[in-house]
Amino acid sequence: MTDSAPVRLVAAVASDEDAAVTMAQGRSRPAWAEIDLGAVAHNAAVLARLAGPAELCAVVKAHGYGHGGPAVARAALAGGAGRLAVALVDEGVELREHGVTAPVLLLSECDPAAAATALSYGLTPTVYTGEGLAAFRAAAAAAGRPVAVHVKVDTGMHRVGAAPADLPAVAAAVEAEPLLRLEGVWTHLPVADGERAEDRVYTEGQLDLFDRLVADLADAGIRPPLRHAANTAGAIAFPRARLDLVRCGLGLYGYLPGPAVAEAFVAQAGGEGLRPAMALKARVVAVRTLAAGERPSYGRLRPLPTRSLVATVPIGYADGVPRTLFEGGYEVLIGGVRRALAGAVTMDQLVVDCGDDDSVRPGDEVVLLGRQGDEVITADDWAAMVGTISYEVVCGVGPRMPRIVVNRPDAPGA
Ligand SMILES: Cc1ncc(COP(=O)(O)O)c(C=O)c1O
Repeated sequence: MTDSAPVRLVAAVASDEDAAVTMAQGRSRPAWAEIDLGAVAHNAAVLARLAGPAELCAVVKAHGYGHGGPAVARAALAGGAGRLAVALVDEGVELREHGVTAPVLLLSECDPAAAATALSYGLTPTVYTGEGLAAFRAAAAAAGRPVAVHVKVDTGMHRVGAAPADLPAVAAAVEAEPLLRLEGVWTHLPVADGERAEDRVYTEGQLDLFDRLVADLADAGIRPPLRHAANTAGAIAFPRARLDLVRCGLGLYGYLPGPAVAEAFVAQAGGEGLRPAMALKARVVAVRTLAAGERPSYGRLRPLPTRSLVATVPIGYADGVPRTLFEGGYEVLIGGVRRALAGAVTMDQLVVDCGDDDSVRPGDEVVLLGRQGDEVITADDWAAMVGTISYEVVCGVGPRMPRIVVNRPDAPGA
């Protein structure tokens, strides 16, 4: 699989399902992202087992965190997810248009103008304002059929959601609507992955508040079947947060949000690891031998320490490779060997210092993210170098990179 060439990739994007994972055809240059759908299914199965009996909701917004929304959704469902979540109505529509029939939760209240579209595609709205409620009341009446609704309460993320004091009224207003059914009540945890003691205290406080709010609803005779609070970090590091459903994104793609969560995961998963689902690859398109002191690429930032073979690779910051990786000391893999960049990452290309190794040739595979031989570069490695998080690395892989499926959920080893 690691040797897959662009030529094979053209064949691989021929089917409908592959079209769902391909955000650009991008066949005119040898640079691509490999998407291991078997890994997504495996990760979903691990998370579902760990969080059970809570149901796994696979968060596939932002094109499945850059992996390709519909294909990832299908793989997660094959692995044991029972439902899906997206941020935008458009993302839910894309899933439906690719034949995904599982329940799809909208994680934010959508623009009222999009309510009818959301319902016509069978998406499950989240509401928390009077305006949102009115939009879905009207859309349900126009459609003439019952609609399941989730209400979000803001217990401490302070982004969107009903204020805790308003939750009883919003929930009661949903219940009072003949065509709306209160299927869920939920909240979100901003520091479940936190390293500081105060983060843990904050998250416990949010969960205490949420439990109290749910108990108050029950006292008022309102018992939504799905109470949910946990993202990947919450599902792993706070077992009490699993409730009826966990909303996992990052874990599905094979990463964990920080060392505290990783530690909690190892303690619970019984040696069953998560597998990164994305690799980023290209092929060398040119090589040149330059004298010591030459300074390749924009800005002529650094002199080559010795006479070196410099390889040009056709992928750049327009594809999601941060320009600042050069300053961070980033390396790529060629021939199973780590090699430093020779200069600044440009929009479409980067240059690699291969030193005195003159065996590197045009056509050689370059791994920017993933495994080659015994070496591995992860999204966490990139993130540490440029001061971001693995989420941003995988979501940042640009739309002109073809996404190529390298392993399907039903394949051996999936
Ligand atoms: C409301 C909500 N729930 C769940 C998730 C999934 O989070 P994670 O990727 O950390 O599992 C997100 C992601 O941002 C989110 O916004």
